[in-house]
Amino acid sequence: MGRLDGKVAIITGAARGQGACEARLFAEEGARVVLGDVLDDEGEAVANEINQALGQCVTYCHLDVRSEADWQSAVERAGSMGPLNVLVNNAAIVHFSALSQTSLDEYKRVVEINQVGTFLGLRSAFEPMKAAGGGSIINVSSIDGLQAKNGLVAYASTKWAIRGLTKVAAIEYGRHGIRVNSLHPGGVDTIMGNPTGDPNVDEFYTQQPIPRCGQPIDIARLALFMASDECSYSTGSEFIADGGWHCGALIPTLPASE
Ligand SMILES: NC(=O)c1ccc[n+]([C@@H]2O[C@H](COP(=O)([O-])OP(=O)(O)OC[C@H]3O[C@@H](n4cnc5c(N)ncnc54)[C@H](O)[C@@H]3O)[C@@H](O)[C@H]2O)c1
Repeated sequence: MGRLDGKVAIITGAARGQGACEARLFAEEGARVVLGDVLDDEGEAVANEINQALGQCVTYCHLDVRSEADWQSAVERAGSMGPLNVLVNNAAIVHFSALSQTSLDEYKRVVEINQVGTFLGLRSAFEPMKAAGGGSIINVSSIDGLQAKNGLVAYASTKWAIRGLTKVAAIEYGRHGIRVNSLHPGGVDTIMGNPTGDPNVDEFYTQQPIPRCGQPIDIARLALFMASDECSYSTGSEFIADGGWHCGALIPTLPASE
């Protein structure tokens, strides 16, 4: 028995990183999955690899999360596999710049993908999930949706916005059996979290309670739980997988720091 047996899921930003890992894990647990992304070659390759390993259970669909037409196509593709039960709004970009140096175009581009993309996903999934009798929507925010860092004005703004979107959607969708929660990864070893592929990336996290960088599977396992019926009584909530980064700091001059 798989933990997502019989469920149909859409995962955005699934051509690589956490989204690709989630697509693989969800398929291993019995889901049929639509992988959406703008990186078509990479997305097709991930879908082919999963289908070769597990049988025909996933499909790739070009899905620019800013496009209403692409969302319609993705929802139709999912509908051809069965009633839609799960959506992971995972696609995002990051942009580093000082607030005072950030152009309006740069700011808007991040908002369009991370925030508007999540809004369109929430809206597009509503009718099909309602018709399916319910479902689970996972909005991928970040540790930067719980706190902030210099240089991340556009990204942090959108990741905080995703928490607000999540709570409104949870309230509006709850009576239709649709749970909506946000997922907050800490540092994760992907192209976004480790763009140079530094093999010593763990060294940046030595002061964290769990002193290593997160791996995509650490986040995918939490997403799996949130997608499954095991998470039946949680909605409008924040689920954190950050190695404890957010919980506080180890102060070398205080006791128990060794
Ligand atoms: N890596 C980290 O350290 C980290 C930390 C906290 C939160 N997150 C969040 O986790 C999620 C996954 O990030 P990741 O680490 O796998 O990064 P990643 O860059 O490897 O993957 C992001 C994916 O989103 C896709 N994407 C970008 N723009 C898109 C668009 N307009 N439409 C559809 N797809 C688009 C990219 O092509 C890519 O495949 C993101 O929401 C990110 O903000 C990442």
